[in-house]
Amino acid sequence: MSTVSYKSAWKSPSNIALVKYWGKRGLQLPANPSISFTLDNALSDTRVEAIAAPDQKAVSVELYFESQRNEAFEVKIQGFLEKAAIEFEWLKQYHLIIHSSNTFPHSSGIASSASAFSALSLCLCSIDEQIKGITHTNFFEKASFWSRIGSGSACRSVYGGYNLWGQTPALNGSSDEFAVNIDDIIHPVFQNFKDTILIIEKGKKAVSSTAGHALLNAHPFAEIRYQSGFKNTERLLEVLESGDVDSFIQIVESEALMLHALMMTSPTPFILMKPHTLSVIEKIWDFRNQTGLHLLFTLDAGANVHLLNPESENERVQEFVKNELVGYCQNGLYLCNAVGKGPQKTL
Ligand code: DP6
Repeated sequence: MSTVSYKSAWKSPSNIALVKYWGKRGLQLPANPSISFTLDNALSDTRVEAIAAPDQKAVSVELYFESQRNEAFEVKIQGFLEKAAIEFEWLKQYHLIIHSSNTFPHSSGIASSASAFSALSLCLCSIDEQIKGITHTNFFEKASFWSRIGSGSACRSVYGGYNLWGQTPALNGSSDEFAVNIDDIIHPVFQNFKDTILIIEKGKKAVSSTAGHALLNAHPFAEIRYQSGFKNTERLLEVLESGDVDSFIQIVESEALMLHALMMTSPTPFILMKPHTLSVIEKIWDFRNQTGLHLLFTLDAGANVHLLNPESENERVQEFVKNELVGYCQNGLYLCNAVGKGPQKTL
């Protein structure tokens, strides 16, 4: 008798937050809403095979990252799948073999958990449809929900373009449990925005996201931060619709600096910027003053700098990167991205 098995594969992108998710409660529910855009060139390519094992009665997984068995990731994924088995009950009767790789250098400081968990959740939803012989009408919402359980920011990666996660009175249909796509309100100037990621420092983050979010629990400024997150979400929604790039710059840079200021002022402080991060920020501000162009930055919980600009100004920006900024990048490494179209089913 042949073994029953189901397969699915998805390529799913990372995303860059404009209003930051930083602080959570309950089961990965955000302390404030966040807004991001999906990247076009920083993807996880994930293939899942589910092999029937009726007597197994527990989640069982084998994980290969860039063709090598990876036990550290396996433990993380096992924990996630145990939670996912609440909805995907079949996980306890199938052995999973997962192969995953990234299109960007591992530990380059890019949020690989967002692309990894969104790709995996999309595969689980696809296999769920095959096993149950149904079509999920809310397929991407479901994938976003489970991506969130894996890693909060991952829930914003299951759609292309601009996405919002977290309940806000400013957007009907918004939810703490999954992200929603907001492309229907986006002004043309923002539709093809560029994101050039300067790799200031490769390697593992000094503070994991989980530990970083936890810093907010005993933070004297936590409540003020959450209120700013709500306010900036509301303001950014207006700006994304009106096309007001100057206000966009003000909100996005202030969000990035606030994220780092929160880390610096937490009871256990962290400084994640490096001298080159600051040099690049100064250069960007000088460039903007001198040229009047709309180049801005944002930061993740790390030293790398994301340079954002409208497509129409990209030639001048790329010249500036090559002439003035590349020297601040580790081994001259930077990655060119733009607003992307979202995940793609490959099997
Ligand atoms: C600074 O989504 O990585 O990138 O939910 O603990 O997995 P977990 O955290 P994660 O946090 C992302 C933090 C951020 C901001 C953002 O993407 O909104």
